[in-house]
Amino acid sequence: MSRVYIFDTTLRDGEQSPGCSMTMPEKLKMASALVDLGVDILEAGFPIASEGDFEAVDAISRQFPWVQVAALARSCTLDVQRAAKALHRAKRPRIHTFIATSDIHLKHKLRKSRQQVLDDAVAAVSLARSYTDDVEFSAEDATRTDLAYLEQVSQAVVEAGARTVNLPDTVGYSVPEEYAELIGRIVTLLGDRAIVSVHCHDDLGLAVANSLAAVKAGARQVECTINGIGERAGNAALEEVVMALKTRPDRLPFGTKINTEKLFPASQTLTRFITFGPQPNKAIVGENAFAHEAGIHQDGYLKEKSTYEIMDPASVGVPESRIVLGKHSGRHALKKRAEDLGYRLSSEQLEQVYQHFTHLADNKKGLRNEEIIALVESAIASENADARVTVAQ
Ligand code: KIV
Ligand code: ZN
Repeated sequence: MSRVYIFDTTLRDGEQSPGCSMTMPEKLKMASALVDLGVDILEAGFPIASEGDFEAVDAISRQFPWVQVAALARSCTLDVQRAAKALHRAKRPRIHTFIATSDIHLKHKLRKSRQQVLDDAVAAVSLARSYTDDVEFSAEDATRTDLAYLEQVSQAVVEAGARTVNLPDTVGYSVPEEYAELIGRIVTLLGDRAIVSVHCHDDLGLAVANSLAAVKAGARQVECTINGIGERAGNAALEEVVMALKTRPDRLPFGTKINTEKLFPASQTLTRFITFGPQPNKAIVGENAFAHEAGIHQDGYLKEKSTYEIMDPASVGVPESRIVLGKHSGRHALKKRAEDLGYRLSSEQLEQVYQHFTHLADNKKGLRNEEIIALVESAIASENADARVTVAQ
């Protein structure tokens, strides 16, 4: 099975987005969660951007010497030197240098010609190679770049010493088929001289689909973040990419070395440090990802989990599935919950509890265990009272 390298950028692309900045102790704890998870490359920051980023790259490099630590740098001398300095105590440093290659960015942002950008890219990669053998080049806005020019830049940076060529869908514009075609072209062009990497943003909700299409087309590094945090709509969610590969080897025969049971803990750690958590229905790590409320689903799930679950929650570190007792729930789930709470109900008792339950649940989002206990206790009490009346007569 071909191996796909997981390049985590939670602490760089993720951390630079609104509501996600972290203090140094938080970054170190998050880095530790990522190391436990087994990410292959940990992008720790953008050293020229702030003192905090510089220190984070240095501290993470020292604390986790066995990990490949990356630092970002624009394709210019000062940035590359700053990244190299932040990484100078790392045992496995990677300098990740980037420059935009699309005409839109060249014209409006960089105000440079294609030749100037090509020269800057080559110079930055050559300089980075004077510090480390592990150099990654990113062609920012690759998906809106003229293909012949992108091929020219990719070829040139590999000749200058880049070992990884990353082709970001910076603005989340691409669609899977199209992205796969682009990646396939560059994979064929570069052969085994470099690893082709992907980095997708989620503006159209396609970041994970695009990343997986790219892997099928030959990409062997995926850049992603925990909970999918990142600029604007975020980056491809690491947990989704990894679990798609693990769950569907029939269609996606690629392996990672991620310890998947650490996915949920890593997501929880991140949530503690930033201002928002994943939405409840977020795949893999959302609160409802393994919750069942509809009666038909609950009945099927309670008979055989595989009817409605394609992954074992334990395999991603979620303690257990959740049966939500709400207005869509049925008798089977109610009976099971009563049993879990220590009550064995007769069919008459169950019927009585169920009638009261549906009435109550109609006006609520879900019932808590205490409310279920109250319903069960009241059904038992009223049955005992009926029995006493019958005996007295
Ligand atoms: O989205 C992007 O293009 C980036 C690059 C710096 C890799 O984050
Ligand atoms: Zn990005």
